[in-house]
Amino acid sequence: MNYDINDLTFEEKLRLLTGKDFWQTYDANGKLDSVFMSDGPNGLRKCDGEHTEESIAMPCISALANSWSEETVFTDSATIADECAEKGVDILLAPGVNIKRTPLCGRNFEYFSEDPYLSGILAKAYIRGLQENGVGACIKHFCCNNREYDREFISSEVDERTLREIYVRPFEIALEAEPWLVMCSYNPVNGIYASENKKILKDLLRKRLGFSGVIVSDWGAVHNSYKALKATLDLRMAFDERAYGELKTAYERGLITDAEINFSADNLLRLLEKVQKAKKERRKVRFSVAERRERALSVARESIVLLKNEGALPLDPRKSVYVAGCFLSDPPYGGGGSSKVRTTFKSEPLARLICERTGAKTGFRQHFSDDGMFAEKCLLESAAAADRVVLCVGEDERKNREGADRITLRLSEVQENAIKMVGKVNKNVTVVVYAGGAIDMSPWIHSVNAVVYAGFCGEAVNLAVADILTGKVCPSGKLAETFPLSIADTVAYPYEPDGYCDRYEEGIFVGYRRYDRDGKEVLFPFGYGLSYANFAYSNLVVQKAGETSFTLSFDVENLSSVSGKEVVQVYVKDIVSSVSRPEKELKGFVKKLIEAGKKERITIRLEADAFAFYSAALDEWYVENGDYEIQIGSSSRDIRLKARVKIELPPESQYTVEKADLREIGSET
Ligand code: BGC
Repeated sequence: MNYDINDLTFEEKLRLLTGKDFWQTYDANGKLDSVFMSDGPNGLRKCDGEHTEESIAMPCISALANSWSEETVFTDSATIADECAEKGVDILLAPGVNIKRTPLCGRNFEYFSEDPYLSGILAKAYIRGLQENGVGACIKHFCCNNREYDREFISSEVDERTLREIYVRPFEIALEAEPWLVMCSYNPVNGIYASENKKILKDLLRKRLGFSGVIVSDWGAVHNSYKALKATLDLRMAFDERAYGELKTAYERGLITDAEINFSADNLLRLLEKVQKAKKERRKVRFSVAERRERALSVARESIVLLKNEGALPLDPRKSVYVAGCFLSDPPYGGGGSSKVRTTFKSEPLARLICERTGAKTGFRQHFSDDGMFAEKCLLESAAAADRVVLCVGEDERKNREGADRITLRLSEVQENAIKMVGKVNKNVTVVVYAGGAIDMSPWIHSVNAVVYAGFCGEAVNLAVADILTGKVCPSGKLAETFPLSIADTVAYPYEPDGYCDRYEEGIFVGYRRYDRDGKEVLFPFGYGLSYANFAYSNLVVQKAGETSFTLSFDVENLSSVSGKEVVQVYVKDIVSSVSRPEKELKGFVKKLIEAGKKERITIRLEADAFAFYSAALDEWYVENGDYEIQIGSSSRDIRLKARVKIELPPESQYTVEKADLREIGSET
């Protein structure tokens, strides 16, 4: 059905811009369909008043990103689309693509990465997985919502180049998948609330990035309805009874025009049409609950990262295993806040899962909790008596949640002590870490010989952990964020807010860009992750495919007797530049299964955007002539192949070259 704006009265148009209740759009007394929105991104969280429907808890976005796999991300969101189809949800308020500026941000578990390219590419796959299955995506939170502390008041003060290269870039890439909605953030950007920031919403998102869908506010982020409308924010959510009156008064005072009202109301009508069409043509329940659970497990398997392995894993079935720790049978599967999915799924305790898979003799007991209980003597006796020990540690939603930041990257004292003590009585200790972000493991990592980072991998987390520990699955996840050696090394630390503004002084040097520039050691670099297989890279050939395009091809050989997937990463460095640029920037990646003993030829193409920086002087992306180094590696700090390419664009596209019309411009002034 096609909706015509002329069929709506003035009042109906205004009401359409303000929603109907907490989750739905206004229906004009049945004249229009009402669109139902619900939270993601870590599964579906459908709420009706106080009641949250049960759903499958998928791996959180932070874990998903560790898969470095567009296919895996697509599987994830397509599975959530099924849940939406089953429960009558039209739009999932997901994914979140905010950059992990600091590992302390309490909501990092809902975000992909510290890197804009990885975030954008994976977000695109997430959007496709939803929309190809008839459910609208809403990327959020636009923009610069990079911490939770006082998120509704502290202004993110950020320069133009940083804004475009780091914080807006993931949105820019994700927009290629045409999400139906973009949600603005709570925070002011350079002093003006994102919800009413004309430069951010109208000039940047709409005009520069070409977004023609609906801009919705974060829930309660609008402070002034008419300013928001003028900035082209279409839909103020959740319903607030003051909104209609505010808009009406502003109209009567001539502060907003018919054209502005019609523009936004029309965007909403087009959204209703998209929803109707998708519902009819694409939305259906494709998988049974059991199949969806199986998919949640397959995603989790791809997302777990093996961080350390000194001959401890896979577990030897002939050796006994003792499992202890905080999260034996009830592991944290996600963080807290609006993305919290209600699941009642529980897997068997990890020890039983290990026994099921290998027949190994296993035992388990909690012995210590996150903060408090510590049955030290009993733990050490049991640990000493076993051939191997697996310790389950980490953080749960109390420390990783919306509305508050983490205050430390360290595990609780009880957990750190337990690990160190067990490491003294047993020389074969594996630590499994559940968390929403980076953990500082430096106080205890030397006491153990294996570390598996499970992250927040959804309800199937322990099934996947058991598969990795026992070698049923070869680990293939890699970190989408750097694990620093200490909190003191991170951006924006120490954080001393002046109550009003958070100045992004580090500019574009966020995450590995910063550690590389400063030559800083880290615990685990961006892109790092081990495998049970062993890969060798060789035979790089670079072919020029156009003025600013190159095709890279190279071999990756699996030298081991285990089939496994390798995440191959391509970084680019501008060797001499007229502006400060990072040592390397991720510009391509691919995850590929390579059978034991086999070799695969990988091909990756780089286009102009792989070489460009955002020129604040020109107000556009700009590629500078000169030499660039292509670095191909297994992580950002494990570069295996290098090549140099030259870019030679004609002089007229190089702004440092004097132009003939300069004099004319001079005479104008
Ligand atoms: C969050 C959004 C969420 C919305 C609706 C807000 O507090 O920031 O991400 O979609 O609530 O629950």
